Amino acid sequence: MKICVIGLGYIGLPTSSILASNGYIVNGYDVSSKVVEVINSGNSHVEEPGLRTLVQAAVNSGNLKAYASPQESDVYIISVPTPINEDKKADLTYIEHAAQAILPMLKKGDLIILESTSPPGTTRDTLVPILEKSNLEIGKDLFIAHCPERVLPGKIIYELINNPRIIGGINEESAKRAEKIYKTFVEGPIYLTDATTAEMVKVMENTYRDVNIALANELAQISGELGINCWEVIKLANLHPRVNIHNPGPGVGGHCISVDPWFIVEKFSSLAKLINQARQVNDYMPEYVCSLIQKHLSVIEKPKITILGVTYKADVDDCREAPSERIIENLKKNSDYNIFIYDPHVRNYKYELSNFKDAFENCDCIVVAVDHTEFKYIDPEQLAKIVRNKLVIDTRNALDQVKWSNNDFNYILLGENLEKTECLAR
Ligand SMILES: NC(=O)c1ccc[n+]([C@@H]2O[C@H](COP(=O)([O-])OP(=O)(O)OC[C@H]3O[C@@H](n4cnc5c(N)ncnc54)[C@H](O)[C@@H]3O)[C@@H](O)[C@H]2O)c1
Repeated sequence: MKICVIGLGYIGLPTSSILASNGYIVNGYDVSSKVVEVINSGNSHVEEPGLRTLVQAAVNSGNLKAYASPQESDVYIISVPTPINEDKKADLTYIEHAAQAILPMLKKGDLIILESTSPPGTTRDTLVPILEKSNLEIGKDLFIAHCPERVLPGKIIYELINNPRIIGGINEESAKRAEKIYKTFVEGPIYLTDATTAEMVKVMENTYRDVNIALANELAQISGELGINCWEVIKLANLHPRVNIHNPGPGVGGHCISVDPWFIVEKFSSLAKLINQARQVNDYMPEYVCSLIQKHLSVIEKPKITILGVTYKADVDDCREAPSERIIENLKKNSDYNIFIYDPHVRNYKYELSNFKDAFENCDCIVVAVDHTEFKYIDPEQLAKIVRNKLVIDTRNALDQVKWSNNDFNYILLGENLEKTECLAR
């Protein structure tokens, strides 16, 4: 059986490699010729533990080949991006283009699986109308299912195999046919449902996280006002057997949690009040961090600010929607600020990245925006010798407060005992 995976990114590439290593002939298709070239050389263009080895084995076995055009197959798995536009509305053009690209090659018995996270109703209202143009009867001659991906970057390969999967068919036969494919490599349980329910399950998983992070971010601001440490509040509250308060931070990033709740708000704006409010609380956090920086640097002339971390979470290279970008852009509006950026995981970034020495030399304010493991090992004693002003603003509770304070750093932790600041007035 031949499978064409459309979109060979963080999701499509590991999925292709696992399918190939389970005996399928996988024709990967990506619009980026660079991606195609890298994969065919046995490499991975995304940073993910174990992925390079898996890709190399799949390519060497002859089962995985990448192409710059779609290849006729029996199963098509669509794993293209589903971002939001400036107006927070879902951009479904990638899905539409993918569906249109395979339309001429569809034949009786083919199965199309949409893996991209999609607004509820997309399979039924966007994908089906395009695929109907094949003149094949949907659900009888052409089978369509939505199988959302719920892997965690950093653990993608393990979770692809072990996570429970939800498969929503456009009809029961479609769901069953998709299940057969996933059963060849998924060891977790597989649950079958309809396509729109499967779409809503995925979007609600991320919305649940977003709303709960917003709750933690409000707690962080309130704790700062109250003169207590929100991290201690969270630790102690979570000792309750049915409480799981999430961690606050400089905002929510990534292409999932900060994006997917908008899919619901767009369609149900008058009903999704809490979801909308949570998005706004989280989207406000970069501004809140900037006002903390501003407040603590008000007495320093032309300060040098070093941002530590530009990815959306720790120990990955993915910068999509990361709050650091909003922090940097906000700070750049002040021409007095001299901004340096350091991230050991990122090679190419929108703004210039510095090496370790340049980043910290004569620095006036270190802002920890991501809790990369490496940052825990930065030695404050050594840094104390090269910075100009000993100030660190930790938005992730990533550093050892005692160690930094013992080296005379003014250690400011997001959500802890802050004096009342103007920024709190929204
Ligand atoms: N990355 C994750 O951790 C994750 C987790 C769960 C769900 N998802 C969802 O999976 C989907 C894919 O995400 P991703 O992170 O793999 O994206 P990505 O940006 O890493 O990869 C997408 C790939 O698709 C290619 N592409 C774009 N349009 C194309 C087209 N018309 N035809 C062929 N190729 C095309 C791009 O060049 C890119 O290589 C999104 O809907 C995302 O929300 C991602």
